[in-house]
Amino acid sequence: MRRKVTKAIFPVAGLGTRFLPATKSVPKEIMTLVDRPLVQYAIDEAREAGIKEFIFVTSRGKGALEDYFDHAPVLEQELRKKGKDELLEVLKKTTMDSGAIAYVRQHKALGLGHAVWCARRLIADEPFAVILPDDVIAAETPCLKQMVEAYGETGGNMVAAMEVAPAQTSSYGVLDVKEDRGQVVLANGMVEKPKMEEAPSNLAVIGRYILEPSVLRNLQKMKQGTGGEIQLTDAIAEDITQGVPVSGFRFQGQRFDCGSKAGFLQATVAFALSRSDLRDDLLSFLHEVTSVDKAAQ
Ligand code: UTP
Repeated sequence: MRRKVTKAIFPVAGLGTRFLPATKSVPKEIMTLVDRPLVQYAIDEAREAGIKEFIFVTSRGKGALEDYFDHAPVLEQELRKKGKDELLEVLKKTTMDSGAIAYVRQHKALGLGHAVWCARRLIADEPFAVILPDDVIAAETPCLKQMVEAYGETGGNMVAAMEVAPAQTSSYGVLDVKEDRGQVVLANGMVEKPKMEEAPSNLAVIGRYILEPSVLRNLQKMKQGTGGEIQLTDAIAEDITQGVPVSGFRFQGQRFDCGSKAGFLQATVAFALSRSDLRDDLLSFLHEVTSVDKAAQ
């Protein structure tokens, strides 16, 4: 029987430089898509996948994130007094059972691998998930839930994977494919941010992982890799050499790179269009601005 995945690490200690000046004082993960911060989408996805313990790797200046998951007694009391039950229900999703959430600090932004390693003491000898909140995935069945189901069959390490244009491989970890089974792909290795000419495939790793604790041991020994950072990709690839299989999982759904301005804007529009209370107004606005834009050209 495979062990259940009940813990997830959320690395949120990055500097978020692509969103400066906003991220000077607002953590990237608190920025909102319509009316929910990025981190809420990540938490909802994790819950639906059966995650019970939520571990955040934070850094200086991320206090708003801790407050977000806390109770807000004054606000709740006010809403109760006004009979705003719907809003109280919305707020419920933002709080956690006591002890279900933990925060550890990454003192220096030494890379994603290092951030995950900072949470090592909160993971026992068990598989765990990693979710990057700035990769937002719109899907009928949440991406991590799809992966947990597939992981029941495959075991080993599993990474979410997505085909990208060859020119984009230099922005991702890329899988060296050993065997393509369709939804699941077995990997020979993984390369972090390869140049287009050197990329072993165009199957890119996206921010959802189910990992064996051996990856944490590999991180312990890791030196800085591409870009001077400690790469999670390298620690996962290292497992292959030790006989732990690594599979890529082609998820069903649309991924938005909310760490970039263009991706964030696209996600905002897509999520707003999926809301019945916003769709019609937004559509007519988009229609209006795009036709004005076309006329101007
Ligand atoms: P990014 O590569 O998007 O970096 O990190 P960033 O610092 O967040 O943003 P930019 O590139 O400066 O705009 C991917 C994920 O890894 C986390 C980030 O918080 C994000 O969730 N991360 C990255 C860490 O937790 N620590 C690090 O040292 C680096």
